[in-house]
Amino acid sequence: MSKVQPVLEIEDVTVVYDSPSGPVQAVSDVNLTVYPGTIVGLIGESGSGKSTLANAIMRLLRGNARLTKGQIRVMGTDIYALSKRELRTFRWSRMSMVFQSAMTALNPVMTVEKQIVDTFRSHRPQMSVKEAKERARDLLRLVRIDEKHLRSFPHELSGGMRQRVVIAIAIALEPQLVIMDEPTTALDVVVQRSILNQIQELQAERGFAILFISHDFSLVTEIASRVAIMYAGRMVENTEAKVLLPEVDHHPYTEGLMRAIPRLTYEDVVIEGIQGHPPDLIDLPSGCAYSPRCPYATAACMEIRPTLHRLSHATIECHLYSPTKEGDSEWPAKQLLYKSTT
Ligand SMILES: Nc1ncnc2c1ncn2[C@@H]1O[C@H](COP(=O)(O)OP(=O)(O)O)[C@@H](O)[C@H]1O
Ligand SMILES: [Mg+2]
Repeated sequence: MSKVQPVLEIEDVTVVYDSPSGPVQAVSDVNLTVYPGTIVGLIGESGSGKSTLANAIMRLLRGNARLTKGQIRVMGTDIYALSKRELRTFRWSRMSMVFQSAMTALNPVMTVEKQIVDTFRSHRPQMSVKEAKERARDLLRLVRIDEKHLRSFPHELSGGMRQRVVIAIAIALEPQLVIMDEPTTALDVVVQRSILNQIQELQAERGFAILFISHDFSLVTEIASRVAIMYAGRMVENTEAKVLLPEVDHHPYTEGLMRAIPRLTYEDVVIEGIQGHPPDLIDLPSGCAYSPRCPYATAACMEIRPTLHRLSHATIECHLYSPTKEGDSEWPAKQLLYKSTT
């Protein structure tokens, strides 16, 4: 079998923001691979480093942010080795991004048609205006917006329509990778649902890969086949989505997220949140960043940073899954709290 080339390879990536109080380690030693035509979810609480990682992939880190370690390759190309000119062609035609706020992604004083036409014309200078306009109409049809809105300005559209336009622009040049950073968070639940369905349809039809970022656990598990979980800048777990079940072994933070989803029982809706707060990214603990909130944590967890352990369904950065834990009373054990499934 020939080896499939990943669309995205993130290796040991660390991103730091310089701040007056010291360096903020927003992304630490992150590894992630996305294969063609797949949807990978990226979950984490607000402030866990998701957008920073997305911006790093797009090479859109600004001002006080720096990639201090690691490599990011898209279709085998090291994004940080490209010249500014090469990067301009690469962005949007190979990889694109849908930002959370459609209003900031769109130009408020340009019609929808002009924005789409400009996208084509700036990347495909040989394309005629006539053809670009035809393509703009096709794209709107694809995202199910009436073509009369080609002449609309962003503020004349509903939030859902604006986000559809942003998605249309993101896929206009047929990139292999589309990063969607909380693409539906600003929208109400009904619109959110319809856009999510639309994203799935477009993805199935066009075959691009998606890195789907959200803080909404149930949304991500619904759309993605694999899910990466970030906590305090670290990717603490990377798992198949279909095994995100209470009876399967996961990172304690993942377990907490699963329990935090409202569950409908016979009596009532049960929501168990995770106690405590994420750590200060300027002063990260030497051990596991999650240990202060972790129900299994031992003294060793507070001091020694866990490494990634490869299980059959997931890779998990937690001492619980350390193969040396047998007979070593310092490592945490699941049996203490829940019945072990292994
Ligand atoms: N410009 C900045 N300067 C300093 N710290 C920042 C800046 N932007 C973000 N951060 C810090 O980086 C962390 C990760 O932010 P972000 O990537 O936006 O998280 P998420 O998208 O998961 O909510 C946050 O804790 C935030 O405090
Ligand atoms: Mg964000």
